[in-house]
Amino acid sequence: MAKRTFSMLETFLIFLLVMMTAVTVALLSILFITSGTIENHKDSGFPDTQSSPATQSSPTTQSSLATQSSPTTQSSLATLGSTTTEGSTVTNGSTATQAPSVMSTPEPPLFQNFSGYHIGVGRADCTGQVADINLMGYSKTGQNARGILTRLYSRAFVMAEPDGLNRVVFVSVDIGMVSQRLRLEVLNRLQSKYGSLYRRDNVILSGTHTHSGPAGFFQYTVFVIASEGFSNRTFEYMVTGIVKSIEMAHKNMKPGKIFINKGIVEGAQINRSPSSYLQNPESERARYSSNTDKEMVVLRMEDLNGAELGLISWFAIHPVSMNNSNHLVNSDNMGYASYLFEQEKNKGYLPGQGPYVAAFASSNLGDVSPNILGPHCVNTGESCDNANSSCPIGGPSMCVATGPGEDMLHSTQIIGRILYQRAKELYASASQEVTGPLAAAHQWVNMTDVTVQLNSTHTAKTCKPALGYSFAAGTIDGFGGLNFTQGTTVGDPFWDTLRDQILGKPSEEIKECHKPKPILLHTGELTKPHPWHPDIVDVQIITIGSLAITAIPGEFTTMSGRRLREAVQTEFATHGMQNMTIVISGLCNVYTHYITTFEEYQAQRYEAASTIYGPHTLSAYIQLFRGLAKAIATDTVANLSRGPEPPFFKQLIASLIPNIVDRAPIGKTFGDVLQPAKPTYRVGEVAEVTFVGANPKNSAENQTHQTFLTVEKYEAASATWQIVHNDASWETRFYWHKGLVGHSNTTIQWHIPDTAQPGIYRIRYFGHNRKQEFLKPAVTLPFESTSAAFEVVTS
Ligand SMILES: *[C@@H]1O[C@H](CO)[C@@H](O)[C@H](O)[C@H]1NC(C)=O
Ligand SMILES: *[C@@H]1O[C@H](CO)[C@@H](O)[C@H](O)[C@H]1NC(C)=O
Ligand SMILES: *[C@@H]1O[C@H](CO)[C@@H](O)[C@H](O)[C@H]1NC(C)=O
Ligand SMILES: *[C@@H]1O[C@H](CO)[C@@H](O)[C@H](O)[C@H]1NC(C)=O
Ligand SMILES: *[C@@H]1O[C@H](CO)[C@@H](O)[C@H](O)[C@H]1NC(C)=O
Ligand SMILES: *[C@@H]1O[C@H](CO)[C@@H](O)[C@H](O)[C@H]1NC(C)=O
Ligand SMILES: *[C@@H]1O[C@H](CO)[C@@H](O)[C@H](O)[C@H]1NC(C)=O
Ligand SMILES: *[C@@H]1O[C@H](CO)[C@@H](O)[C@H](O)[C@H]1NC(C)=O
Ligand SMILES: *[C@@H]1O[C@H](CO)[C@@H](O)[C@H](O)[C@H]1NC(C)=O
Ligand SMILES: *[C@@H]1O[C@H](CO)[C@@H](O)[C@H](O)[C@H]1NC(C)=O
Ligand SMILES: *[C@@H]1O[C@H](CO)[C@@H](O)[C@H](O)[C@H]1NC(C)=O
Ligand SMILES: *[C@@H]1O[C@H](CO)[C@@H](O)[C@H](O)[C@H]1NC(C)=O
Repeated sequence: MAKRTFSMLETFLIFLLVMMTAVTVALLSILFITSGTIENHKDSGFPDTQSSPATQSSPTTQSSLATQSSPTTQSSLATLGSTTTEGSTVTNGSTATQAPSVMSTPEPPLFQNFSGYHIGVGRADCTGQVADINLMGYSKTGQNARGILTRLYSRAFVMAEPDGLNRVVFVSVDIGMVSQRLRLEVLNRLQSKYGSLYRRDNVILSGTHTHSGPAGFFQYTVFVIASEGFSNRTFEYMVTGIVKSIEMAHKNMKPGKIFINKGIVEGAQINRSPSSYLQNPESERARYSSNTDKEMVVLRMEDLNGAELGLISWFAIHPVSMNNSNHLVNSDNMGYASYLFEQEKNKGYLPGQGPYVAAFASSNLGDVSPNILGPHCVNTGESCDNANSSCPIGGPSMCVATGPGEDMLHSTQIIGRILYQRAKELYASASQEVTGPLAAAHQWVNMTDVTVQLNSTHTAKTCKPALGYSFAAGTIDGFGGLNFTQGTTVGDPFWDTLRDQILGKPSEEIKECHKPKPILLHTGELTKPHPWHPDIVDVQIITIGSLAITAIPGEFTTMSGRRLREAVQTEFATHGMQNMTIVISGLCNVYTHYITTFEEYQAQRYEAASTIYGPHTLSAYIQLFRGLAKAIATDTVANLSRGPEPPFFKQLIASLIPNIVDRAPIGKTFGDVLQPAKPTYRVGEVAEVTFVGANPKNSAENQTHQTFLTVEKYEAASATWQIVHNDASWETRFYWHKGLVGHSNTTIQWHIPDTAQPGIYRIRYFGHNRKQEFLKPAVTLPFESTSAAFEVVTS
């Protein structure tokens, strides 16, 4: 180890790091010793042929299927006809492992006498806990949830061919990313409810990538550490919400039509690694006018009478308008666009309610920032738009990109509104109808072990996962804590030695494979208590007529997305499917960080250092997705191998934050007002009330209330209080202040808009307190409270 002297700060940080690591390792080992290791995911229900609903005989297939309940009937049904080609598994005559389809209520028959699709849309809350949990995205220690700005929703779209046989499901969820654990559990529940109707191949789950949602829903160790533990409470809440949104969509399917439109969105994004982008060949760059993808793709869904049902839009942008100093759970710029769209279409409904569903889904956003003023040094104000995102004074931690607004909330709204406005225009003028069959193809792939055919003479291999030095640098949207620099291509003996001491040495093989990435964490060789990163990854395409949605298990950069779209489109065309529109759907199914091009990889900025399967990751995905496209185009999906099943780890490390009983100050009870509202506010002011609080994570367990707060207006005519806002509203904020030994305060704010009607208002608080009586199990009990009435005046 090189001789080197340390500053006080460095020494302290090192001490802290070593201590934290030691504690973590100790805890992990204890848990590892006391728990089992791997339970292979029981997926007996995913059929070997997708033929169970394939009795093509009557328009009432659905309802007859719905009454099938015994395993024998089910499998005999399944063996009847292997007519559908939609499945993606090896054809294996035996369907004995198929679980019975359990459907409690008979489904209504689906009419077949129309052209178009049966379309169902659904939206359900999946917020999870809003306290005592880290926010997922920036990996910043201490960036935990302390309240809520907006709720998070799962938005589901089910589409079926007129005969109801082939169907596909697309779900966009307001979370950082879909984790493997989440997907496996959602598929399990769908299978026990619907049998083989909704499966690994025809259901896509995509995260919007908000960086302001709770963490804690992962099974691989890197993410469990970043989440500071697995949260069963949040996990259950999310799974329930996602499944519920699909159930709603399933139930309200009706004959309808889908229209597609595309258009350019200006002024919403910048490339946050432009020097990496410049590594791509000039001839390739010359074909594009921008270093980000500016095209938005919009689907408009309506029923046969032209009544509007929903919207899906895809656009490449990081939802990081809210920066890493935020502690309020919210859905960021993409969520704000959904909010505006749904509020407009669901007139008279509170946010999160009403039948119309508008999803703004993620795409190839890997190197795309919404902080369009670009990176500047916080200390000097000069630009730090350089290859290292580093400032002359203070280095990389001074280099931060900001949005167009006065503060992060304002920026979120500006960017969200741009997306909403453009989507609205494209939606209004969408006239090209999507027609044609639905299809789906899916495989599990061991991404550590893919041989890529580079050209006729050369092959290359993917690597076991590893993170490079520049991963720790973070980005201009949120720098890492330890003063690492982007663009680092040589390791530091100090950190290497520290790592070797704590985690062991990376093998020569993994070092060689990832070059020129200097490895900081050789996650692919770390297996305690569970593997640190996934080996098994999902690749998946669903097609709706001439639209192909590629489900990407991570974050593609701009150029990566372009290469994949082009390759997949060409593959389809080669096999007779001309003019397919290819959409990149980001953050799907399992999280594997970033995917850069081979050329971008050489520069080792953050995105490249986070390309965990090595320099040929993109080429491997292109090869795999081409395989899926070919299978769909040639009607040989049933011949695709299903691939190795992902593991399902039994025992995950739980959060170290204890669940303790809530306490109110002596002489007070939960919900008592500590700081009352003022008697009068003018529009534009902020009404604020502070209550004796209880930990809001309790409310994720016992969902007696659907909201933490309401703002209510007195209607003299009916002598009733009408709810005008809930906690999903952008006008309200719910702050939770944690005190000692179970004491806490809750502050509710209403940022009174200029458009508010003058009148008499009140604010209500809904919470749950944890209570434990001697020798009894803990319970979480609902309580509610109401502020004094106050007046709002216009001037
Ligand atoms: C088919 O499935 C059965 C039961 O799951 C299994 O024993 C058999 O090996 C499978 N055959 C092939 C060819 O995969
Ligand atoms: C399809 O059939 C149903 C039931 O017979 C009928 O109510 C509906 O109007 C028909 N739709 C069209 C588009 O013909
Ligand atoms: C997770 O939560 C669910 C539902 O609340 C519960 O049934 C289950 O036992 C919990 N699992 C663990 C490991 O605590
Ligand atoms: C971080 O590194 C830069 C040089 O790259 C240095 O100027 C700066 O002082 C360092 N910051 C801290 C907090 O150590
Ligand atoms: C985040 O944005 C706020 C403004 O809303 C700003 O004061 C703060 O410095 C920003 N923090 C970082 C780390 O960018
Ligand atoms: C993936 O492939 C590698 C290399 O063949 C192998 O060592 C590893 O066990 C595989 N992973 C899984 C989960 O099967
Ligand atoms: C194939 O790719 C390798 C590695 O990129 C390159 O060295 C070789 O020249 C290529 N061969 C042909 C025929 O393009
Ligand atoms: C800055 O980036 C360049 C590559 O663009 C790299 O060669 C250099 O080492 C980086 N500087 C630091 C301090 O990491
Ligand atoms: C594909 O699109 C081109 C241009 O839009 C059009 O000329 C051509 O006819 C289309 N081909 C098919 C098979 O639809
Ligand atoms: C697909 O599988 C079927 C049944 O195993 C076989 O007959 C057929 O030749 C296969 N097709 C291709 C293209 O491999
Ligand atoms: C709650 O509010 C009271 C009165 O405003 C204050 O004395 C107390 O310190 C606050 N507690 C916390 C945990 O913020
Ligand atoms: C949830 O609240 C209800 C009262 O609404 C209470 O009866 C029940 O015990 C609570 N459940 C839990 C798990 O604490």
